[in-house]
Amino acid sequence: MFQILTMLLLETHLSMVSALFTVEVPQQQYVVEYGTNVTMECRFPVNGSLSLELLTVVWQQKRQGQSKSKEVYMLRNGKPFLQSQHHDYIGRTALLHSELKLGRAILQITSVKVTDGGSYLCLIEYQGVDYKYVTLEVKAFYRKINTQVIRKPAEDKFVFMCQSEGFPLAEVFWQNEEKLNLSGSANTTYTVTTDGLYNVTSLLTFKPSMSENYSCVFWNKELNGETSAHISTSDRKRKLNPNLENEKRDDFNSQTEALYLSTVTTSRDSESVAL
Ligand SMILES: *[C@@H]1O[C@H](CO)[C@@H](O)[C@H](O)[C@H]1NC(C)=O
Ligand SMILES: *[C@@H]1O[C@H](CO)[C@@H](O)[C@H](O)[C@H]1NC(C)=O
Ligand SMILES: *[C@@H]1O[C@H](CO)[C@@H](O)[C@H](O)[C@H]1NC(C)=O
Ligand SMILES: *[C@@H]1O[C@H](CO)[C@@H](O)[C@H](O)[C@H]1NC(C)=O
Ligand SMILES: *[C@@H]1O[C@H](CO)[C@@H](O)[C@H](O)[C@H]1NC(C)=O
Repeated sequence: MFQILTMLLLETHLSMVSALFTVEVPQQQYVVEYGTNVTMECRFPVNGSLSLELLTVVWQQKRQGQSKSKEVYMLRNGKPFLQSQHHDYIGRTALLHSELKLGRAILQITSVKVTDGGSYLCLIEYQGVDYKYVTLEVKAFYRKINTQVIRKPAEDKFVFMCQSEGFPLAEVFWQNEEKLNLSGSANTTYTVTTDGLYNVTSLLTFKPSMSENYSCVFWNKELNGETSAHISTSDRKRKLNPNLENEKRDDFNSQTEALYLSTVTTSRDSESVAL
């Protein structure tokens, strides 16, 4: 790809039209949510009707801290040229052809991943050559929090688990109904999924007490808000009634017992975050 860039720039130096040809971006930065579609735009001058066969458009992406850029989409002499497209983008990109005659090179990426974030180069050759950069930032809210309660009868302890995926990395806070911060006794770990999301698991171990309602809060400054799930030691009575006999037997047989699993789809505190 570097060769194409160098070649095109060299070509431009030799032609006098270059000074007239400028690529512009109506929007410099795009912030989108994981899994959505995004369109990013570059504009170039078209005088009269577009001669498609003279048009070359190249979109490339580079993530922060990575030295190599990936080819996202290429239109060469008016035709899609996807041989050198990076495999991360196969089947997920398009250039909106109907917009080209208006001098708009609009790249669409569907089902945006965390790894799509970064700096995008948009290079256009059309009786001249120029390029600009736009940036794409991807956010993933910790919307769905999976919770689990595990009882350790031998130690007379409960373990509450909250697990969720998002980006960037969230901190997890725990509190009881008196709003007492219990995060000190929690163990929060994370892994990174193949999609680049943080898979955050937080475990709170405690002895049963008067307080029976607990909540875990996933918080990240950049996400401008938090999500939370509530767990109660009393839920088990309700949820496990049909299996009460099994539960009693298990008390004697196992050290650790998963009392119930549940998934909480949370609402965020500040839904009005501007994307
Ligand atoms: C994203 O784009 C794909 C392909 O064009 C389309 O099928 C899908 O409905 C779009 N999703 C949204 C949320 O617009
Ligand atoms: C547009 O094209 C016409 C004729 O093809 C030419 O006379 C004119 O100078 C061009 N304008 C620009 C801005 O290139
Ligand atoms: C937290 O959990 C991890 C993995 O389960 C474990 O290796 C680590 O020792 C724990 N840390 C504390 C402070 O309990
Ligand atoms: C996230 O981690 C949990 C274990 O902590 C695992 O069960 C789950 O499959 C992981 N999810 C993904 C999407 O990797
Ligand atoms: C825990 O929450 C439930 C449901 O929200 C409520 O009915 C119950 O009174 C709470 N328990 C305490 C000890 O406040």
